[in-house]
Amino acid sequence: MPTAEDDRANPLTHGTPKTLLPQPCVLVIFGAAGDLAWRKLLPAIYNLNVDGLLPSNFAVVGFGVGSEGDPDEWIRQRARDGIEHFSRQPLDEGHWADFSRALFYVEGKFDDRPAYDRLKAKLGEVDQQFGIPGSRIFYLSIPPQLVAVAVESLKSAEMVNPPDDDRAFTRVIVEKPIGHDLESARGVIAAVAHAFEEKQTYRIDHYLGKETVQNLLVLRFANSIFEPLWNQKYIDHVQITVAESEGLSQYDPKTGAVKASRIGYYEGIGALRDMVQNHLLQVLCMVAMEPPWSLEPDVVRDAKAVVLRCLRPLTDEDVEKSVVRAQFVQGDIDGEQVPSYEREVTDFFAQRNQPIPNPITTETFVALRVFIDNWRWSGVPFYLRTGKRLPKRSSEVAIQFKAVPNVLFNQHPDVPIEPTMLSLQIQPEEGLSLRICSKLPGPKVRIYPVKMNFNYGTSFGGSTPEAYERLLLDVMAGDATLFMRRDAVEAAWEFVMPILEHWDRSRARFLPQYQAGTWGPSEAERLIEADGRQWRAL
Ligand code: BG6
Repeated sequence: MPTAEDDRANPLTHGTPKTLLPQPCVLVIFGAAGDLAWRKLLPAIYNLNVDGLLPSNFAVVGFGVGSEGDPDEWIRQRARDGIEHFSRQPLDEGHWADFSRALFYVEGKFDDRPAYDRLKAKLGEVDQQFGIPGSRIFYLSIPPQLVAVAVESLKSAEMVNPPDDDRAFTRVIVEKPIGHDLESARGVIAAVAHAFEEKQTYRIDHYLGKETVQNLLVLRFANSIFEPLWNQKYIDHVQITVAESEGLSQYDPKTGAVKASRIGYYEGIGALRDMVQNHLLQVLCMVAMEPPWSLEPDVVRDAKAVVLRCLRPLTDEDVEKSVVRAQFVQGDIDGEQVPSYEREVTDFFAQRNQPIPNPITTETFVALRVFIDNWRWSGVPFYLRTGKRLPKRSSEVAIQFKAVPNVLFNQHPDVPIEPTMLSLQIQPEEGLSLRICSKLPGPKVRIYPVKMNFNYGTSFGGSTPEAYERLLLDVMAGDATLFMRRDAVEAAWEFVMPILEHWDRSRARFLPQYQAGTWGPSEAERLIEADGRQWRAL
């Protein structure tokens, strides 16, 4: 595998200007005791350390509540546990020692002003110890309602340097969810803008850091064969699927108690807000955007924003016809019985002696058909679907090209030949495959679909870096290309609002169900079959 050093030295490395290297800084994680830091952020930083990609002067300071005993020792134990469970590369004692000596924790509440003074003092010590010039990245992995107080407190504690201070920069990363609707998203955006300028602000959507999602741009714009066909003349439709087999809770097999759960976040949020408003729409933008005229961050982000602006707004009638929501009931995944979403919610709240929501109408599955009303995509349906407790974890973008004319090999309406299909596997097996028709060997002309496959693992070896690794490095380097600009966040909310409003008005109405371990409700099948098409079997 080429290393970062090779990349820097390699004249064939294309993309963002080479001056953008990760710069010395302290990464301050707000909410470092939380699930995201444990599963993703701390393991990502550890992997960057192992791969030698971190800046030479670098440290991590967690901030939040929940530590026990010595806070630094506590976060180190938690990080070690996270790395042991979730790291892409196994824990190596040498790298661990190097990583953990630069990891600290400050206990404090986000709305407690004196806690920020303690944080500031700690950052000063860490700067001294690691030779860091006062540059900081504040990663806000906290609920959206706490963002305003956090950024205000940072500002009033004088921890936000002006945006043109390149020696001691201050940047902020805002994790999703950015609000729970358009209005609250605007509130979060405005609060952050009060303390940080747009060029200091990095709104993260980790799907944009996935190798295969980035490869969409390379595939489209570094090859000459796809782009001429990438439009309504040649493409029949596009499917974007993000399927997950996990539910929201994990149970202790011995006691049956809830061991870990995301219900506290997910209940009342649902799949549309959790996945479609951000990840699926961002992937859609990468598929559908016009070629940007350069790779400058704002040029790429302009091109993506145009796609969101061209999404055909949904009327109430459209929502009824083109959007399906559903919730999973008990079922079987890989031979294992899993409980319903309702059960997960009930157990979660009961275990905490908290009132159980009634009725439980949060959707865990969404399928929808959208149109992009511009010259390139006019009339081409984009089918999007995502769900929890589907048969397996599998995400892909499938581009189905139009059928060949009904002549020559495609004369028989009863046995149409399979149309060309380009599918890009986002995860877990990253790669792409092109399905084309071929002649079966033999004296007769018999047509058979075959696949040309490219697999990341086989071609490049090693394990593909996690999205968070790439995105954290980009923030350290000051490259905002893969982050969402405020207009994109707002445009995505604007698109989903009519759906949310329609659902709100019809809360009490029928909510379709699907059995865990199936590909969603029959309504989702009907949605696409009504157009004479079918969901891809993944
Ligand atoms: C998160 C959602 O943003 O993305 C989760 O909140 C979801 O509900 C996760 O499981 C999926 O990410 P990935 O990288 O595992 O596909």
